Amino acid sequence: MRKFLKANIAMAIMVTAVTAQAEDVEVLHWWTSGGEAAALNVLKDDLESQGIGWTDMPVAGGGGEQAMTVLRARVTAGNAPTAVQGLGFDIIDWAMQGSLANLNDVAASEDWDAVVPEALQQFAKVDGKWVSAPVNVHSTNWVWANKAVLDANNINVPSTWEEFTAALDKLKVAGITPIAHGGQPWQEVTVFDGVAMSVLGPDRYKAAFIDLDESVLGGDDMKAAFDRMAVIRSNVDDNFSGRDWNLATAMVINGEAGFQMMGDWAKGEFLNADKVPGKDFECFRFPGTTEQVIFNADQFMMFDQGGKVSAEQAALASAILSPSFQSAFNVVKGSVPARTDVSDEAFDACGKKGIADLAAAAKSGNLYGSVAHGHANPAAVKNAIYDVVTAHFNGEYDSATAVVELVDAVSIAK
Ligand code: GAL
Repeated sequence: MRKFLKANIAMAIMVTAVTAQAEDVEVLHWWTSGGEAAALNVLKDDLESQGIGWTDMPVAGGGGEQAMTVLRARVTAGNAPTAVQGLGFDIIDWAMQGSLANLNDVAASEDWDAVVPEALQQFAKVDGKWVSAPVNVHSTNWVWANKAVLDANNINVPSTWEEFTAALDKLKVAGITPIAHGGQPWQEVTVFDGVAMSVLGPDRYKAAFIDLDESVLGGDDMKAAFDRMAVIRSNVDDNFSGRDWNLATAMVINGEAGFQMMGDWAKGEFLNADKVPGKDFECFRFPGTTEQVIFNADQFMMFDQGGKVSAEQAALASAILSPSFQSAFNVVKGSVPARTDVSDEAFDACGKKGIADLAAAAKSGNLYGSVAHGHANPAAVKNAIYDVVTAHFNGEYDSATAVVELVDAVSIAK
């Protein structure tokens, strides 16, 4: 792992030195799967049409952990990229360190205050300054299913945990992997986001993961959430360890597996394989979380290049927030727009549902930040939760021990 990161960092510095030009934007991101790359091309093409060049700095790894390691090395070396994909509390951290440019001029002239949802502004504005440009809103409490597999096994879209586990049992008997999963900590916690919400409900999800209330972190409901994780563990194939998320999605696409619990970036993979929702695949909220949206929003942080926001940074920020881009990009990416005034017309059935769910959740107080994707806590607490969820998933301890470990790990990290 360490070797891999070092190689990545060395490559990052080399690539920059060779290709970056003053008038280009250099963009560091982790959108390397087929669906993600297709979406990124929408942004590249948009900028190209304005005469702005693109220096690509991809660092693979969902959730962005590796990308953040490369970023730290670049910033330490005094060579920050122009724009960097960022999530939640990481954005606030970089802003507090004084690394981000102030986008207030472009934000004011385009009135971002009026159109970007409040939940996102919390992570895009620090001390009254816009420091990043929101690209989308993803959510993690989705399940993706192969429709032909469901039909062949007489399975309807499950709406309760009991129906879900009955469907898993049927698939097991039929010799199909019930759940496609990639064994990486961020993926386990992505699953845990929805599972924990389904057991705790929104108030206690907030008490546990946002307020870090020890009685909920270590309580019976949390133990029940870990018990559900153990059920999920017993429904993945033997080769899950280390598998990338998009390869798990491919297992559902090609009918090797029935379901995947994953954020809506998975839809980008289905679309990239020419699959159609309702015909080839189904999207539904993790049972027990139909009213909740557990969100993570990708943003591009603009790194201060020595004073003022550059013309290229302003153009990039403005392109990202434009309503036409928000529609075109998010249709491909699987996410929904980061503005409240974009029509859902161009979106497929899952996208329309995503847009409606987000608006309803924001209105009814059911919109919560994803633990897995850094929208509930800063990195130290997030990583502490990763460690416990992954250790439990891999059978290092049982659910009763997991809640004790969770309380300990969070109290040390916070
Ligand atoms: C998330 C990110 C998504 C998607 C996913 C997998 O952290 O917000 O846009 O890219 O990782 O790479």
